[in-house]
Amino acid sequence: MTSTLHHKVPSGLDQKEAEIYRRLDPARLPKHIAIIMDGNGRWAKRRHMPRVAGHRAGVAAVRSTVETAARIHIPALTLYAFSEENWKKRPASEVDFLMRLLSRYLKAEVPTLNKNNIRLEYIGRQHELPGDVQERMGWAREATGQNSGMVLTLALNYSARSELVDAFRSMLEAAAQNGGLGHLHIDEEAVSRNLYTRNLPDPDLVVRTSGEMRLSNFLLWQLAYAEIYVTPTLWPDFRGVHLLEGIAEYQKRERRYGGLNHADGHPAAAKV
Ligand code: FPP
Repeated sequence: MTSTLHHKVPSGLDQKEAEIYRRLDPARLPKHIAIIMDGNGRWAKRRHMPRVAGHRAGVAAVRSTVETAARIHIPALTLYAFSEENWKKRPASEVDFLMRLLSRYLKAEVPTLNKNNIRLEYIGRQHELPGDVQERMGWAREATGQNSGMVLTLALNYSARSELVDAFRSMLEAAAQNGGLGHLHIDEEAVSRNLYTRNLPDPDLVVRTSGEMRLSNFLLWQLAYAEIYVTPTLWPDFRGVHLLEGIAEYQKRERRYGGLNHADGHPAAAKV
């Protein structure tokens, strides 16, 4: 049963956001939303601007999305900012620009994160990032470390396959230090506990902008049962209202986790 349509709208939402929020069931909001931010380059190209102008415009989309997610009390939001592949396959000048943009974002945004009670975290091979960026990241994490609201995780130099490799390596190292391979016990729980996301629930919803239908090496293990929402909106045009549209679509879906739907009368039966 869905709750009434008269639930209270959280403060800070604009009129369009409030309109969509009123149609949502606040008891069934996703606990963790992951977003693949895509389309910055195309946004810039359409305007005959350099690609980096799209990245710069993407920061406003990050700001709006993060604030709206926090205002409606989503417990966790994870943004795919830079993949490991981004480093290898993009010109150094674009990578440098993205690094500087990230540094500036962290410095400028900490007060807003604190105002919204948001705690910042990171996933990815951080030790491979430039030293000054790592320092700024550490500072921003510390500066928001006391916040108890939404956890905002930035995936930086992230690859899901590398994350799994790192998880297997850490399980092996732990076993080697605790009596050898005979003590190695691997099951799903053990893999989950060794991922970068060990402190987060698996995402219920993954959003991808700019119309592409790919996971692009993002949270492959954790997205096993996530609902996928793809919007044609390019990332720099994405705002809180689009996030709410994605959540509305999510609430229309029936999540089965491999089971049958209730109409079939066998909710517990396994379906392969
Ligand atoms: C994808 O667009 C976007 C990126 C690789 C970078 C994401 C960066 C931002 C949104 C801005 C800064 C982020 C933070 C957290 C401060 P693309 O360049 O692949 O677009 P295209 O597919 O249209 O070329």
